[in-house]
Amino acid sequence: MASTSIISMFLLPVILLIWVSPAVLSEKCSPHEKKILLQVKQEFGNPSMLSSWNASTDCCTSAWEGIECTTEKPYRVSQIELHGLDLPGPVDLPPSLFNLVDLDELLIFEMPNLKGQIPPQISNLKKLTVLYLFSTNISGPIPESLAQIKTLTNINLAGNNLSGPLPHLLPSLPSIRVIFADENRISGPIPDSYGSFASSLVTLTLSHNMLSGKIPAALKGLDAELLDLSWNKLEGDGSVLFGAEKKTEEITLAGNMLSFDIGKVEFGRNITRLNLKHNRIYGKLPEGLTKLQHLTRLNVSYNQLCGPIPQGGRLQGYFPIDASSFASNKCLCGPPLPPCK
Ligand SMILES: *[C@@H]1O[C@H](CO)[C@@H](O)[C@H](O)[C@H]1NC(C)=O
Ligand SMILES: *[C@@H]1O[C@H](CO)[C@@H](O)[C@H](O)[C@H]1NC(C)=O
Ligand SMILES: *[C@@H]1O[C@H](CO)[C@@H](O)[C@H](O)[C@H]1NC(C)=O
Ligand SMILES: *[C@@H]1O[C@H](CO)[C@@H](O)[C@H](O)[C@H]1NC(C)=O
Ligand SMILES: *[C@@H]1O[C@H](CO)[C@@H](O)[C@H](O)[C@H]1NC(C)=O
Repeated sequence: MASTSIISMFLLPVILLIWVSPAVLSEKCSPHEKKILLQVKQEFGNPSMLSSWNASTDCCTSAWEGIECTTEKPYRVSQIELHGLDLPGPVDLPPSLFNLVDLDELLIFEMPNLKGQIPPQISNLKKLTVLYLFSTNISGPIPESLAQIKTLTNINLAGNNLSGPLPHLLPSLPSIRVIFADENRISGPIPDSYGSFASSLVTLTLSHNMLSGKIPAALKGLDAELLDLSWNKLEGDGSVLFGAEKKTEEITLAGNMLSFDIGKVEFGRNITRLNLKHNRIYGKLPEGLTKLQHLTRLNVSYNQLCGPIPQGGRLQGYFPIDASSFASNKCLCGPPLPPCK
């Protein structure tokens, strides 16, 4: 009977385990990552919108809210997308998030009650390509360690309460294409390094911050399809941001204290939107403006421009470019403004 007792003592529990809980054994979610996610849930204050994050289900196949895993072994949590969570009150950005080292995309947004800082340990996420942390109340500096995540392509940190300087190493990222950081309290000058991105940058938006100081001459090398530096306290020569060879489509410098002669500016052919209003720009509008075939929006109002408005192209009679586009300058004249004297 010895063999029977061996079966009952050792094998039976094993057989029972396999029979009772096939779900556990075929689970894709790694126990380690499940534990981290449950910790993250707790750090978020157990919002009811995360009730699908349940220890007895598979985080990779059972529709855990906002979780996606890799589709091949070894299964790993690769994406987190959480927005509008019903946080119980002001809650810190969960530190455990930064232990999910295989994340490819981390998207957390529209949570006014989410506070705290972005920890330097974010650089643990060595595979991250997309980082969206926007419309929350996180504060403190943008960690310079972001520049260690060489895979990053898209960063959106807009609409938070971030302060301190722009990380001067971000332009060294080899694949970065999009940076949104508007509507924060970022201060100090734009670093020279922003004139030499290692990648082919598409979008840089820094509007509604507290950036100050002169536009560095090095920004001659800054070239993006969409560039928005509006509503800061920037000074100096903004003409370096333009160039006939640049791929600029939209450029918004409104609401700064930029002071330069617009007459010497050469515009890239692909410009569709040009917003320079509320600065201290002077000189005579260049004829080159009439050659911009794709121009759909133009506003140079509230500057110190003077002389006749070039005639032709889309500068007259092309809605919505109208007299208000040229209003409140020193002495601009001619259609669509009143005739020159
Ligand atoms: C987890 O799911 C099980 C089975 O669906 C359920 O009985 C249990 O109450 C859930 N636990 C939590 C904490 O929601
Ligand atoms: C940013 O922080 C300041 C002070 O810490 C606070 O007064 C303000 O309401 C915050 N802004 C947002 C959008 O939460
Ligand atoms: C954001 O956090 C600050 C403290 O850091 C607090 O004073 C402010 O009220 C918060 N804003 C919102 C909208 O919760
Ligand atoms: C302007 O746009 C065209 C068409 O999208 C593109 O082929 C060209 O490279 C752009 N010019 C520059 C200077 O980027
Ligand atoms: C140009 O900006 C001024 C000042 O902000 C505004 O009043 C006007 O409507 C704008 N015009 C156009 C065409 O955008």
